[in-house]
Amino acid sequence: MKQLSEDAKSGRYSRIFTQLEGLLAKSDNTIANMATVAAVLYHKFDYYFWCGFYTILDGKLIVGPYQGPVACQELKKDQGVCWAGINEKKTIIVHDVELFPGHIACDSRSKSEIVVPLKNNTGQVVSVLDVDSKDLNSFDELDGKWLEKILTLINQH
Ligand code: SME
Repeated sequence: MKQLSEDAKSGRYSRIFTQLEGLLAKSDNTIANMATVAAVLYHKFDYYFWCGFYTILDGKLIVGPYQGPVACQELKKDQGVCWAGINEKKTIIVHDVELFPGHIACDSRSKSEIVVPLKNNTGQVVSVLDVDSKDLNSFDELDGKWLEKILTLINQH
């Protein structure tokens, strides 16, 4: 798939950020905000094949609001990219999922992936945003930077 130029990508994320700022200002419900973020992002980027959240509940990592094909409901503890984002408390960019040890393939069509942690107001990671692409090398630092900024719009209680 044709890659977006840096300028085109930044411009699109910037417009999405402004749109989400308006939409999320109307609710401080975390689930509603996650659902809105997943829906807006998924429909604005051709290379987003799956986009959604996983949240820690009683020590388990459980799927939250998402868009795209049916995904795993629970991710095996400390395995895969989402748990890596939680344990390392940082954004993880995977250019080729086959090369990531322990990667969990909820859908074999996913080829690259980005995971961005969502922290609560005491700085604890409580959820992650996960985005998958059907192409290799779809995500870079620019996606990471903008997705981190977008997640600041979600109030995590
Ligand atoms: N690939 C993820 C699992 C979630 S799906 O991609 C939707 C992982 O390794 O944690």
